[in-house]
Amino acid sequence: MASLKDDVVAALGKVASPDGKPLPQTGTLSDIVETDGKVFFSITVDAAAVQEWEAVRTRAEAAVRAVPAVKSVMVALTAERAGGAGATPPRRPQMPPGGGAGGPARASGGGPPSPAGIPGVGAIIAVASGKGGVGKSTTAVNLALGLRDLGLKVGILDADIYGPSMPKLLAIREKPQTIGGNRLKPIERHGMPVMSIGFLIDEETPMIWRGPMVMSALTQMLREVEWGILDVMVVDMPPGTGDAQLTMAQQVPLKGAVIVSTPQDLALIDARRGIAMFRRVNVPVLGIVENMSTFVCPHCGKSSDIFGHGGARHEAERLGVPFLGEVPLDIGIREKSDAGAPVVATAPDSPHAQIYRDIAARVRDGLQGEGRPAPKIVIEA
Ligand SMILES: Nc1ncnc2c1ncn2[C@@H]1O[C@H](COP(=O)(O)OP(=O)(O)OP(=O)(O)O)[C@@H](O)[C@H]1O
Ligand SMILES: [Mg+2]
Repeated sequence: MASLKDDVVAALGKVASPDGKPLPQTGTLSDIVETDGKVFFSITVDAAAVQEWEAVRTRAEAAVRAVPAVKSVMVALTAERAGGAGATPPRRPQMPPGGGAGGPARASGGGPPSPAGIPGVGAIIAVASGKGGVGKSTTAVNLALGLRDLGLKVGILDADIYGPSMPKLLAIREKPQTIGGNRLKPIERHGMPVMSIGFLIDEETPMIWRGPMVMSALTQMLREVEWGILDVMVVDMPPGTGDAQLTMAQQVPLKGAVIVSTPQDLALIDARRGIAMFRRVNVPVLGIVENMSTFVCPHCGKSSDIFGHGGARHEAERLGVPFLGEVPLDIGIREKSDAGAPVVATAPDSPHAQIYRDIAARVRDGLQGEGRPAPKIVIEA
């Protein structure tokens, strides 16, 4: 008996490339990922030919959708760089017209053009770190909850291709459903819509594939998901300041970036790189969070500065960006995070939840900062 994947390949055989070849014979298809009737694959083409391939992508999606037993399909069109390292990554063509409430926030002049906003979404902010493992995802989820507690409508987009962690941090085991054929309905947690790139990219997908795949997958997650009306969307970015991160910073219509760092020098050097990256693409840096700051021993009550203390505040001052707050290194934060029960949602009266809410208030204030059009935020401060 033919597998569903075979049926998908057979259906794609009836879709022709711009030069008339059956799609599976063009060498442009990635592995076809299929789970529970949900199909995902990408078509990788030369950057110069992207426009003509967009129609092929649409036809491929329609052909696969027509296969019995296929419940949903997502086809990403990925452009290969023509100019080798350092070339500007291509944008996906035919983005729907933008018009996110509030208009573009990036400083004008000089830098690359801002991507179009997402209709209905007030402000998109990135939570980023130069270095991995500094608590970026933990900060992102608790910051989102803190913004929610300030009365804002908040969504979370986990764009960390290398280690999507929102499914774990928010105990999500289900996959998003499609609505109306090709739009996805985000998962709802703690009153917030959540999407993770982990829903779309198979864990087995080799790392080398992820960079190219992610650009299209990201665009789809931003523009083909029923986010509804949001004041703020918090994006958990992949760690680092390489090509993939830079492209994301360029492709996502960001209103600002929050940088997470631990206090050690090494992490701070990477945080500095992160700030430089966002400045390069004209995304305002809303500030730095010092995570894993002081450790208070739960047994003796004595505090120790395991990774040092105050480094991020000092760095923020030095670089002229706001300092947003210090989150202590605390076993409760780790346990709750890893159990899918973030502290702001499950221990709202704890001092740690208050720290995150204070950080959230500073972020909100930064978003309304001078010179930038206020995002569509309804605030009763
Ligand atoms: N303030 C904190 N106190 C104690 N543990 C923390 C704190 N912040 C994060 N952690 C823990 O540190 C680990 C790494 O955190 P997290 O996954 O948020 O980091 P990350 O920067 O997103 O990592 P990656 O680069 O892998 O995406 C997790 O186990 C998390 O629970
Ligand atoms: Mg993470």
